Amino acid sequence: MTNALDVSAIKKDFPVLDQVQNGRRLVFLDSAASSQRPSQVIDAMSDFYNTTYANVHRGVYRLAEESTNRYEHARRNVARFIGAQNPNEVVFTKNATEAVNLVANSWGRANLRAGDVIVLSMLEHHANIVPWQMIAAERGAEIRWIPVTPDGQLDLSNLESLMDGANVLAVTAMSNVTGSITPVEMLVSAAKAAGAITVLDACQYVPHLPTDVLALGADFVCFSGHKMLGPSGIGVLWARMELLDAMPPFMGGGGMILNVTVDGFTPDAPPGRFEAGTPPIAEAIGLSAAIDYLDDIGMEEIRAHEVSLTAYAMRKLTSELGDSLRILGPSEPAQRGGVLSIELDGVHAHDVSQVLDEHAVCIRPGHHCAKPLMKHFGVAATARASFYMYNDESDADALADALVAARDFFAL
Ligand code: ALA
Repeated sequence: MTNALDVSAIKKDFPVLDQVQNGRRLVFLDSAASSQRPSQVIDAMSDFYNTTYANVHRGVYRLAEESTNRYEHARRNVARFIGAQNPNEVVFTKNATEAVNLVANSWGRANLRAGDVIVLSMLEHHANIVPWQMIAAERGAEIRWIPVTPDGQLDLSNLESLMDGANVLAVTAMSNVTGSITPVEMLVSAAKAAGAITVLDACQYVPHLPTDVLALGADFVCFSGHKMLGPSGIGVLWARMELLDAMPPFMGGGGMILNVTVDGFTPDAPPGRFEAGTPPIAEAIGLSAAIDYLDDIGMEEIRAHEVSLTAYAMRKLTSELGDSLRILGPSEPAQRGGVLSIELDGVHAHDVSQVLDEHAVCIRPGHHCAKPLMKHFGVAATARASFYMYNDESDADALADALVAARDFFAL
């Protein structure tokens, strides 16, 4: 056995996993794109809609107050889960992409000038590239790139000169393509030494590793609910209060003001300043339930399980597929998350994915919204399998069997 987790019991909590396709048990290996969610999350949202739902921070009737209480409890639960001291440093957004856009637009417009420097890494997802390219174009800022080593780690040999004169370092904590875990503390101290802020894309990190935003040291941390057993439609931006407090609103509307007159408006304090319009209320309740579920299992245990399962899967795939297989990223499972981007010799990732679908194995083919990284590796697409705590060795075995079938089918 790879794990200390009771994965068969965990699987039972996820109704969607209990189905058969083409006579085979469904094997879900696409959690890096979006995880599944347990009954506890679905029930919490359903119960909230059935008993409590009302808009928040508006009504004074009992239902509205209870709804507001539960929404704000969700904020406190998120803050506790990531080690933040002040719940008001947690801003609920639509998704992690919106969180990065919020920082690029609000902090960026207030602080970036022509000739300023934004440092990105070649590991980045488009969500942590394009918002910076947009603000760089608007402000006349320069973008520099931290390169990547052949095994998919950040190449930090030139970090000091890359950071020289930089204003922003925007970097992932874990790649969604290679699973590479980046040395966040070291990156943050290089940014601090250069006088730059650090914006961390923690979408693949927070769901899979214990997270302490204060220990990580970044100024802004962005992640999404749907990759950590929560619903889609909610993301999180965490930032130190003095930064949020000095930032102008990103979007205007109801809920983000102290006062509005015909002459203008006075923005509310954070986090309300950044939550214009009706926020993702039931989604926050669902995310909070997801956090409770993750806590019950234990983030240390989840991480240990995924390292062990990734090691097993890498051994299994290598022994079954040998030279016809290439797995991008670090060869050492402890340096990566449970994300395996696979190239199967002579078979396009979309063809691999289709054969896997016939075997009821769900993976994601494509460029994974990381085209600069794919170009660096010289590939147009990979077939990406990604694990979570509800996967076990039987899922890795099903992946290996289906990949062998794909290879043999296209070798004909
Ligand atoms: N960012 C998600 C992925 O990597 C959608 O698939």
